[in-house]
This record gives sequence, C-alpha cells and structure tokens, in this order.
Amino acid sequence: MARVALVTGGTRGIGAAIAIALKAAGYTVAANYGGNDEAAKAFTAETGIAAYKWDVSNYDACVAGIAGVEAALGPVDVLVNNAGITRDGMFHKMTKEQWDAVINTNLSSLFNMTRPVWEGMRARKFGRVICISSVNGQKGQMGQVNYSAAKAGDLGFVKALAQEGARAGITVNSICPGYIATDMVKAIDPAIIEKNILPHIPVGRLGEPEEIARAVVFLAADGAGFITGSTLSANGGQYMI
Ligand code: CAA
Repeated sequence: MARVALVTGGTRGIGAAIAIALKAAGYTVAANYGGNDEAAKAFTAETGIAAYKWDVSNYDACVAGIAGVEAALGPVDVLVNNAGITRDGMFHKMTKEQWDAVINTNLSSLFNMTRPVWEGMRARKFGRVICISSVNGQKGQMGQVNYSAAKAGDLGFVKALAQEGARAGITVNSICPGYIATDMVKAIDPAIIEKNILPHIPVGRLGEPEEIARAVVFLAADGAGFITGSTLSANGGQYMI
C-alpha cells in the first residue's frame, strides 16, 4: 500500500509543488487548502490530487479535516506543514490582527495539524513530519516581526518534537526556503526585490517551488529514518547556518 501524505497549503505555490512531487514519488496525496476554491479546483483537475478545505489555524477544523482525509485515504504517514501567510509591515505600524493571523496560521497550525496525527504515527511506529519554515525564521527580516517569530517558533517545535518521536520511528524535520518565486514573494514591491533582496542571494535568482519539493521527498522517504530534528536550508546561499 502506498504511504499517505497530507500537505497543508497544498494547492498553490510551494505546497502544490510538494504535493505533485510526492505523488510522482508514489505517495497517495491529499492537499489541504484554506480559501482559494478556484485554484484548488484547477489543481485537482490538473493533478488528480484530492483537495480538502479547512483552516489550519483552527484546531477543531484540523481534527475534522484530518478525520475526513483518513476516512478516504487511510492513516496519514507523512505530514507536510506548509501552509503559511504573510502580513508584512514595520513593527511600529503592525496591528494585533496582523500579529495574531501570522502566529495562528504559521505557528499554532503546527500543533493543530500534528497533534491529531501524532498518536496514530506512534502506534504504527512510523511517521514523517516536515515543517516548512523560512530563511526569515533563521535570520529575522525587517517588516516581518510576526512572520520571523512564527517561523523561528516552527524550528523550536521541530527540535523538541523530534526528540519525542525518535523512539517511535517518527522523524520531524524542517526546511527553510529562501525567496521562492510564488505569489507570496511576487506580492512584494518589485523595487524591493531588486534592490533589497536579490543582491543578497548568491545564486542571483529566486528559487523555484520544485527546488523545495525535492527536499521534502528526500526527508519523507522510508530511508531517511536517521535524519531527525534537522533544519535543511534551501535559500540560494542567502544565509548559511
Ligand atoms: N531589506 C532591507 N531593506 C528593506 C527591505 C529588506 N528586505 N525591505 C524594505 N527595506 C527598506 C526600504 O528600502 C526602505 O528604505 P528607504 O527608506 O531607505 O527607501 C525602508 O526599508 C522602509 O521600507 P518601505 O518604504 O517599503 O516601508 P513600508 O512601510 O512602505 O513597507 C514593508 C514596509 C511592507 C515591510 C515593505 O518594505 C516590504 O514589503 N518589505 C519586504 C519584506 C519581506 O522581505 N517580506 C518577505 C515576504 S516573502 C516571504 O516571507 C517568504 C519567505 O519565507 C522568504
């Protein structure tokens, strides 16, 4: 039986590339998404990957959504916590709403999504949890106090949970993408990308979603059982740690 993989934010951007790559690697894949029905419909039509809508910042919605996926496809073996948002702004202008939205969607979602699959993974003595953090969680980014805090929190979540999962055959790892050519990055003022971002990327370009997806496939493999608690940077050399 093919292993079952669930990718949050899996119908667009990096998540869509991850879902497609996992399917190509032989997994049965479910893609969660939060809001864009049109994109999800197009994604499913194009890839044959089932899309499931719920809000990862809502614990009860995650419990119900995961139950639906598991009823349809079987227990989740591989969870990719990819869903994320930005609400950028200088801290002196940042609102409580901008703070809460990013912390809830980018950090609390890791609890909301991982807790409901964790006991099953422990019982079956196998699991892969892969969290998509960010270069900006590693180095901090002006205009992103909320996002950098959440993404740095993701790294702490991974390092602690990896220790708990180790004896149960569950690995927990994070990937820190740099600036990838997705809608999220394209939303930045092009002048800022040119002047403030590209000059700091030694490879001289934005990354492609597929360049993150291949790292997920690597960490998801059955043969990756000795890699846990790690942080894999894929940022074109922008930040080395
Ligand atoms: N690095 C260095 N300097 C930067 C900068 C950056 N990334 N972004 C902005 N600045 C500078 C600006 O050039 C400007 O300097 P000057 O006054 O000398 O021109 C100063 O900071 C203030 O910037 P703005 O005039 O743009 O201020 P604003 O209040 O209008 O906008 C902002 C603030 C919304 C944060 C805007 O600057 C912005 O969008 N910055 C980019 C933030 C960013 O990198 N976000 C990443 C989103 S993608 C992502 O998050 C994916 C991932 O994981 C990597």
